[in-house]
This record gives sequence, structure tokens and C-alpha cells, in this order.
Amino acid sequence: MSGPRQAAAPDAGSDAADVGESADDFDTFDEDDFDLEAATHEHYADGPLYDHEYKRRRADVNFYRLLARRLAGEGPIVELGCGTGRVTVPLLREGHQVVGTDLSDAMLARARTRVGRLGRAARSRATLVRADMRSLPLALQTPLVVSAFNAFEHLYTRVDLAAVLAEVRRILKPGGHLVFDVQNPDLRWLSRDPRRRWARTRFKDPRTGQRVEYSTNHVYDPVSQIAFIRFYYRPLEGGGPTRIVRLAQRKFFPAELEALLDANGFDIAERYGDFQGEPLVGDCESQVLVVRPRRA
Ligand SMILES: C[S@@+](CC[C@H](N)C(=O)[O-])C[C@H]1O[C@@H](n2cnc3c(N)ncnc32)[C@H](O)[C@@H]1O
Repeated sequence: MSGPRQAAAPDAGSDAADVGESADDFDTFDEDDFDLEAATHEHYADGPLYDHEYKRRRADVNFYRLLARRLAGEGPIVELGCGTGRVTVPLLREGHQVVGTDLSDAMLARARTRVGRLGRAARSRATLVRADMRSLPLALQTPLVVSAFNAFEHLYTRVDLAAVLAEVRRILKPGGHLVFDVQNPDLRWLSRDPRRRWARTRFKDPRTGQRVEYSTNHVYDPVSQIAFIRFYYRPLEGGGPTRIVRLAQRKFFPAELEALLDANGFDIAERYGDFQGEPLVGDCESQVLVVRPRRA
């Protein structure tokens, strides 16, 4: 996901007053919390819960829908890190052919369920493929590649990003675009006290019906620029242990992202600070980029 800073929790309100006060709020991180493999998969192990947690996140979906009308031409659209189909399904409904790719079997299973509920015509326009975006098993050519909701924050090194951009270049038709969004790093959020719990909120697990308390904390490594996040799901009834889910997100600072894109031969055509098309300024949550490969 995505990240606790961005609509992470079902009823997440302001973070201002939700710093925990009880003894269990003082958590320490150990070696396991820095396991990048686990922190790439755990948050995506439960597709229905993911959809429940982000059901209110609609502005980005609308943005990608409108963008596809403008840039997808005859398609197909290739989506990198399509997850549960949050963006894929509306694009299919709009009449586009979409090739959705993701690393997580669980997220793809949920996407398949959602696509399966569509009408026959929309269903027939969908292809879902388990794939690492750094090495795509795709031979097609596309006018538009999209990657929504911070999926690129799972590219933990510049080598990972370079691999993805090389794949995008390979499959893009001349004149084609890559559109993606990542968070705009918030220094105050990154430097929060990792021993405290944040974003505390309560909700009902959509699968079990159990009421749980959700909270998060994180440690940020300023050298790798990776935030190691923990999500806590504490049962409020029936007892049982608190479930802890790990997530890692690599942060891209705006000027750094510009430089990385440039170094990999991509020009920025458009850049926004939100999904309504406002310019990127310091306190924006997102960086939304429309880029295209420079051709020799
Ligand atoms: C925050 S979710 C976003 C999902 C979806 N784009 C959305 O808007 O809801 C990030 C997704 O990226 C996927 N992912 C992470 N690393 C990946 C990789 N190397 N290649 C393909 N998908 C990856 C995860 O499995 C997850 O589904």
C-alpha cells in the first residue's frame, strides 16, 4: 500500500491527536522489521481488507480514468502493480483494454474476483498477469503505462527504478506515456517517533466481522530513503494476539525523481501535486507524473 499517511486506515481522521499513551505504545523495531521481502508482501496478503481500507480513496481512480480517455488511444493500457484492480476495473468499465500486472498472488486473486463481476464485454478486455514490473513478460506495444498509488515505492533502489523504466521504454509505442504517482515525502511524518503509535482508529474486519483497533508506526532510514512501517490490528473483542503487518516504502524526493527520470532518458511532460491537477508544492501529499521516453 500506499502508506498510513495516505488514507491508510478505514476511518483515519487527523493524526494530530492520535498518538498513543499506553505502555504498549513504546515499540522497538528489530531485524525482522527490515526484511524487504516480507515488507513487500505482507500488506498485500489480504485483498478484501486492502479494498476495505482504501475504499474512500477515489480521487486517484478518477484521475486515471480521465487520463486514459486522453492518452490511451486504441490501447491496450498496461498497469504496473495493479493490485486488487482498484484502478483496473474502472478503466475496463470505460471500455479500455487493460493488461494488469502485479507481484502479489493475493492481490491478483482479488482483482480476478472483481473483474469476474463485470459484464462479459468488460471482462473480455482484461488480462491479469503475475509479473515483477522490473522484468515484464509482455511482448505487446502500448500507448499508455500506468502505475497507481505508490506502487513505485516498492522500487527500493535506483537499479530497480532503472529496470522498470527500461521495460516501460521497451513496450511503449512512439509518443506513448508513463503515468504514475508516489508520495511527496513529508519530513515531519518521516521523523516521527517510532516508539509511538499513530493513526489510531477502529474498524470492523470485512472478512471476520471482528472489531479491531488499527494503529501504525514506522522507522525511516535516511540513507536508503526507505520507511519501514508496521500496521497493528488489535482485536477489540474475543481476545487473540495483535496482528502486525510490515510494509516498506522507498521515498522519492521531487528533485531526485526528476534527476532519476532524466538519467534514465525520460522527460516530464506534466507534474501535479494531487489528482485534481494542482501544481506540486511543498506540502502536497502526492507527486503525480506524466512522463515519456526521450527518443534518440
Ligand atoms: C500500494 S499497492 C497499489 C495497488 C493498486 N495500484 C492500487 O492503486 O490500489 C502496490 C502494489 O504494487 C505491487 N508490487 C510491489 N512490488 C512490485 C513489483 N516489483 N512488480 C509488480 N508489482 C509490485 C504490490 O503487490 C501491490 O499490489
